[in-house]
Amino acid sequence: EKKDDDEDSTSSSQCSSELCMERITNTPETYHLHRVLSLHLFVAKSDPTLAEEMGREGSHLVLSRLARLDVYSMVDTLTEDDEDAVVALQDLACEIGSLSCAFPMKYSPYSAEELLRRLPLNFTVKPVVTSLAGAQMKKHDEVSILINQVTVRQSAQEDVGFVMWPSAVILSSWVVSKPHLVHGKRVLEIGAGCGLVGLVTAGIMKANDSNSACIPRAEECHSKVLLTDFNDVVLQNIEQNIQLNNIANFVQKEKLDFYSQSGSQYGGGWLDGFGKRRQPVDLVLAADVICKPEDAVAAANTIFDCLTPGGEAFVVSADAMHRFGVEKFESECLRLGMKVLVSDVQELLDGQLLSSNTQSLELTSGFVEGMMLTMFHVTKPLKKEVRQS
Ligand SMILES: C[S@@+](CC[C@H](N)C(=O)[O-])C[C@H]1O[C@@H](n2cnc3c(N)ncnc32)[C@H](O)[C@@H]1O
Repeated sequence: EKKDDDEDSTSSSQCSSELCMERITNTPETYHLHRVLSLHLFVAKSDPTLAEEMGREGSHLVLSRLARLDVYSMVDTLTEDDEDAVVALQDLACEIGSLSCAFPMKYSPYSAEELLRRLPLNFTVKPVVTSLAGAQMKKHDEVSILINQVTVRQSAQEDVGFVMWPSAVILSSWVVSKPHLVHGKRVLEIGAGCGLVGLVTAGIMKANDSNSACIPRAEECHSKVLLTDFNDVVLQNIEQNIQLNNIANFVQKEKLDFYSQSGSQYGGGWLDGFGKRRQPVDLVLAADVICKPEDAVAAANTIFDCLTPGGEAFVVSADAMHRFGVEKFESECLRLGMKVLVSDVQELLDGQLLSSNTQSLELTSGFVEGMMLTMFHVTKPLKKEVRQS
């Protein structure tokens, strides 16, 4: 309900249907309400406990008020479009209510702390301002991303992507600080987990598109970032995070298993979860994807197959004390004929890449005070090189 300050209550209650249409259809308020309800429905389907708590905290009141609106008694003041808009909102409200086992709910079996842990993490990744780049960096270059973590218990080593890991924070901060690395590129994240790095990359592309006043329509958009992982639950969560951040025009998810890649595709591309060969890309990003020595071999093979000749990859990893097999990664890349530059993260961007992200690092799993992180900058040569034996 919206009332202009300079209108008296009589004229606003006798609004013409034209005025009402302006007030219901195609207004930012209707759009936002629709979006909020769609997200609520998404939560009701994916996390019923959190949805119940949202209901208890007040959303059930709003939902039942909306559902009780008698749209047919308003036919004199509403146009057909208005009616459709209200009915669409009511349908959403009713669907959310129908999924609730206690609408309205009177108590929650979970503590506030337990429920808080279910909420998405909010990462605002800011560019690191160095003495060289500082002058060019602006406040709007920061990117905010919501990350939902999978709240079911991890029952195997394969489930490590259910939660966020420290290298993802560092790699995200790196791309935000060096946005030219991703502009106009086809980007693929491997072992994406919750997807922070790829989502931040898509956020940079989205901001770049809005700045150039070219907002792509869904039908003409080809996604520029591909988030990949091998775990189906992780992939479902990635999809949820894409929706949560309203960024589907710039990013998609796909299944990619490191162990299905051969490391022999000079320009041929990578194999997806259906065994279909897919186009190589310009840039590969990977955070904390090596957990055992075989992973170092498989990750190097994957990067080789995914990259187009001349393409590059940035891989960030915790040290070999905390991630077994990382020490093999450089030699595996060299074996495939790729070039590798290894840097201690602590020294990058005037030493500020690590220090400016300490708060966000503490939100991640497996972060240990004093943990060393390494960045590998891998380049695939433009010309095919003969491999060392
Ligand atoms: C330690 S987690 C890191 C996740 C994310 N990159 C981050 O930093 O938050 C390792 C990720 O690699 C994925 N992974 C492990 N083995 C894989 C494989 N063979 N193929 C593709 N992804 C794999 C896991 O599912 C998980 O998401």
